[in-house]
Amino acid sequence: MIRPDLSSLPAYVPGASIPGALKLASNESSLAPLPSVSAVINDATSHLNRYPDMASGALREKLAQWLGVDLDNVAVGNGSSALCQQLVQATCQDGDEVVYAWRSFEAYPILCKIAGAVGVGVPLKRGRHDLKAMSDAIGERTRLVFVCNPNNPTGTTVSRDEFREFMGRVPAHVTVVLDEAYVEYNRDGESPVALEELQCYPNLAVCRTFSKAYGLAGLRLGYMVGPAELVEAVNKVGIPFGVNALAQAAGVASVDAQAELAARVGATVVERERVEAYLAGVAGDLASGGAGADGEPLTYPSQANFVWLNAGERAEALDEALKREGVVARCFAGEGVRVTVTTAEETDVLLRALDRALPAAGLAGQATSAGRAD
Ligand SMILES: Cc1ncc(COP(=O)(O)O)c(C=O)c1O
Repeated sequence: MIRPDLSSLPAYVPGASIPGALKLASNESSLAPLPSVSAVINDATSHLNRYPDMASGALREKLAQWLGVDLDNVAVGNGSSALCQQLVQATCQDGDEVVYAWRSFEAYPILCKIAGAVGVGVPLKRGRHDLKAMSDAIGERTRLVFVCNPNNPTGTTVSRDEFREFMGRVPAHVTVVLDEAYVEYNRDGESPVALEELQCYPNLAVCRTFSKAYGLAGLRLGYMVGPAELVEAVNKVGIPFGVNALAQAAGVASVDAQAELAARVGATVVERERVEAYLAGVAGDLASGGAGADGEPLTYPSQANFVWLNAGERAEALDEALKREGVVARCFAGEGVRVTVTTAEETDVLLRALDRALPAAGLAGQATSAGRAD
């Protein structure tokens, strides 16, 4: 009864929740939605007897105005995951190829397979997209390329120059999607600004989400900006009423809450710098001078709300050791561990946990005082 290829479909692994432990596994905000947005969500509950606006008109108008694009350049979806899936469905027929860096957002290969497309993962180079290798991987059947910037899970960015050179090598009939799920945290001035790049490349689109910086992961809301024909095609393959009424109201309110957002994001960036300073101290303490797997550094500079611990073969040991210290991270066995950065209080807990977990996993010779919480 079931299509046979589904048995080989890798399951999406959601970040684990363990009662009593600190969950730093899914790159969520640990704070409630922004106060002004929460108030709007509460009000919107009184209209839930009605279907939502299928076109999400008010939300798309708001986004278009804010971003300085036309209404027909904006699509919204049930999380940007849904938009990524719709992009694959809208561009690929059976056997067509989608190129992405690997490791990157773990949903890409799954979404490809569901749509009957073939995912082509191009290995990262020192945690970064290898855009030369990615353009080389584009073949006859390639229809779509995801560039995840900053990259989940390594936190690294591509530079504007690299990106433009890459776009110059991509054939005009291949759609490129900049996945900017973590754009709000990106302080790298050399990174491409998607909205500027969109003006230059008619085969480019950008996806963003309200799940991370805006703290609305539970509502499921993402948006895409791109060429009108692509927006139309993406909408065609979406499920009807896919963006619920609360998400639409919250999205409109979120666009108006930029000052509240900026304060939160700024605080997260401060914590990220604190975690990175700590890790730099740990790496410096190691006699070998190198820390992570295969001579790679213990971490890469992150422009997202998480850091990557390049633990290699010791990833599972590190993940287990963190759990014993009451911190749930996201383990990629044999590769590394990704830890979400949140508030100052939670960073205190994280650094205390790392102080014990890194040596326990054999990744630091001794507990370090480099970035101790206090
Ligand atoms: C790179 C990237 N893209 C897209 C998403 C999807 O986010 P959502 O579906 O919650 O909007 C995520 C979530 O983890 C992500 O890391």
